[in-house]
Amino acid sequence: MRLRNWLFHNFREVSRIFGFEEVDFPVLESEALFVRKAGEEIRDQLYCFEDRGNRRVALRPELTPSLARLVIQKGKSVSLPLKWFAVGQCWRYERMTRGRRREHYQWNMDIIGVPEVTAEAELISSIVTFFKKIGITASDVGFKISSRKVLQEVLGSYSVPENSFGKVCVIIDKLEKIPVDEIKKELKLVGMSEVAIEELLQVLSIKSLEKLEEVLGGGGEAISDLKRLFFLAEKFGYSDWIQFDASIVRGLAYYTGIVFEGFDREGKLRAICGGGRYDKLLSTFGGDDIPACGFGFGDAVIVELLKERGLLPELSQQVENIVCALDQDLQGAAASVATKLREKGQTVDLVLEGKPLKWVFKRAARINAQRLILVGSSEWQKGMVSVKILSSGEQYEVEVGKLE
Ligand code: HAM
Repeated sequence: MRLRNWLFHNFREVSRIFGFEEVDFPVLESEALFVRKAGEEIRDQLYCFEDRGNRRVALRPELTPSLARLVIQKGKSVSLPLKWFAVGQCWRYERMTRGRRREHYQWNMDIIGVPEVTAEAELISSIVTFFKKIGITASDVGFKISSRKVLQEVLGSYSVPENSFGKVCVIIDKLEKIPVDEIKKELKLVGMSEVAIEELLQVLSIKSLEKLEEVLGGGGEAISDLKRLFFLAEKFGYSDWIQFDASIVRGLAYYTGIVFEGFDREGKLRAICGGGRYDKLLSTFGGDDIPACGFGFGDAVIVELLKERGLLPELSQQVENIVCALDQDLQGAAASVATKLREKGQTVDLVLEGKPLKWVFKRAARINAQRLILVGSSEWQKGMVSVKILSSGEQYEVEVGKLE
């Protein structure tokens, strides 16, 4: 919990300095909220069951659908843009590997109501700020960035039906996981011709914006969005963290524009975080669409990365004072000393049983106490206690009322 609290504190601090407001949602949701028909992995990993009222329910595998539902529910009562963050527990029936667990926490930041890529640029800036805060640099991690509009433009020129778009993206996302022949087969099944598939695979291998512009031509939104994002990155000051990579499409069906993923440059770990624009998600839940984008950042891969780099913080327990009665009759006196200190905001570990001093010193060392306050009968009769400063060994008596 020390490590988790440290991590979450940093998630929250970054969100706070970016002016975001914290939200949360139920962990148990209706299964229907997560059922999409694009063949996503996340759908097959759902922890779902029937409740006592015969309703199909699921433990949330992600936060975005709940967020979308809340935005719809709030309707016109909130003014846009919304800048929301959440740190929530999620469940996925995953194969457990390094950095992937069946139960994890995700830090999410989402901006709802901004159609421009300034929103994506701001989100990436917040993740960079987080990395810097915990000691991770641009030589440790980077972001691969693309836009689903790249695919849309390619597919558009081959008249691939628009409703297969999500499916195509989900298939392409598996490029690094399954053989390319399998991918081709699946793409054929959703109605793509062989020429279209070849062209698509060609485009996906592009790693520079200049090359992409040569292939797609300069007029489309894909290029203009990406160019603007790279321009803004320079102004935000994180150009050295990001690179264009057309093969990034992400495995969730709902993204419509810019998509990005954080990766470790040594290539040992799974994606550290990921997100993108999802301008059409709200209408799938019956609401009016509002432009939106966001990211999810898990609590597992980042810890692996910090371990790798020797950057895990030393987080020891820290209690300022340890208060101990020197005999059983003084337990009440010790309690009142502890209360006085706690009322002044000091942290106090009160020894609750009669223990030998050797034990008390050991405990003081374990909790990194700065002061040992001993309540002994001769001092107590004078309204005093004895204080030992543990770092220097200095010892003195002080009136209880003057304890600071
Ligand atoms: P995602 O890529 O499925 O996106 O997950 C986001 C991040 O959550 C991953 O990059 C990883 O850090 C963490 N994560 C996911 N699954 C696991 C797991 N089994 N164990 C540990 N960590 C995991 C989403 O979930 C989107 N809803 C993100 C988003 C928010 N897009 C827009 N807004």
